[in-house]
Amino acid sequence: MLKNPHETGGLPARRLLAWYKRCGRTLPWRETADPYRIWISEIMLQQTRVDTVIPYYERFLKQFPDVFALARAPLQDVLKAWENLGYYSRARHLHEAAKIITGRFGGRIPNTLEAIRTLPGIGDYTAGAILSIAFERAVPAVDGNVRRILSRVFAVAKPINDPGEHRHFFELAASLVPKKRASGFNQALMDLGATVCRAKNPDCGACPLASLCLAHHRHLQDRLPVMRKAPAIPRRQSVAAVLRNDKGRLLVVQRPAEGLLASFWKLPGGFLKDHENPEAGLRRLVREELGLSIRVGKKIASVDHAYTHFRVTLHVYEGFLFNGKPAAKRCPNRQWAAAADLKKLPLSKIDRMAAKLI
Ligand code: ADE
Repeated sequence: MLKNPHETGGLPARRLLAWYKRCGRTLPWRETADPYRIWISEIMLQQTRVDTVIPYYERFLKQFPDVFALARAPLQDVLKAWENLGYYSRARHLHEAAKIITGRFGGRIPNTLEAIRTLPGIGDYTAGAILSIAFERAVPAVDGNVRRILSRVFAVAKPINDPGEHRHFFELAASLVPKKRASGFNQALMDLGATVCRAKNPDCGACPLASLCLAHHRHLQDRLPVMRKAPAIPRRQSVAAVLRNDKGRLLVVQRPAEGLLASFWKLPGGFLKDHENPEAGLRRLVREELGLSIRVGKKIASVDHAYTHFRVTLHVYEGFLFNGKPAAKRCPNRQWAAAADLKKLPLSKIDRMAAKLI
């Protein structure tokens, strides 16, 4: 009879560490002990694949080599460095946190759970990852990948994507983290989840935990973890206007400092109401945003984009100004941008796609 992996005297940790030494991935943030670099990597890795992060990580650290450089930089530069990486509140929080670290912590990344959790952008997972990797604190770092491994190894049939069950998995992980070498242990779980104990087609033949794994033993690896059905993602419609002045410059506006894609730049426009006529909606939105009356011309293109909680189709129209000067009504800032200006401004992915089309 296979024992519960808890009764195997620290075996999961020892096996994992040995496997990590042999098979762990070589990644740029694993070649440093600098807590600043480790912090940056963990923020970038939130909801984002390792391959996507690597070039951003390298560039970001060249531009902002330490926490003082980051704290001093204008927010627009940080947003620009983050362009296309998504989840832009991360960049804003990172910048805010850098100011707190230099102002309140003497430029040192805090090394206790209590202190690090006070920083914006740092939840339980990231706190666990930074504290274990940068400071060898014996705390777990539990994300969806780790919950998947635990669900299989311990045959836990609780939905891993149900926040109500997260505490259970967190405590399970906490009971396994070794007092020493928490960094290797947590990163071994990350790598195991990414390369072996994958959501689909787990490679049990290559798994250092297979002989302890209850799911493997009971042939349940394709049925575990259990997932709660995710709600359907709504689709929203938005419209934008291409408005040029007599020098051929394009009118762009800055989004408010709060809310979706805060402080990024975009074309004038916004979300349509349900069943609203797109042309009428665009006239309404430009009036509300800039106090301008426009005539809407032909549609130039439509582009799709998926955010976490909704999908959007953006319809881009030609527009012509009737009268007036653009005023900052709903947007903090606006400008007539030449092509070179447009390159320098931070634009979100969908707005950059729209800008490329025109
Ligand atoms: N995902 C989150 N943190 C990670 C890390 N340090 N290494 C690899 N993948 C990760």
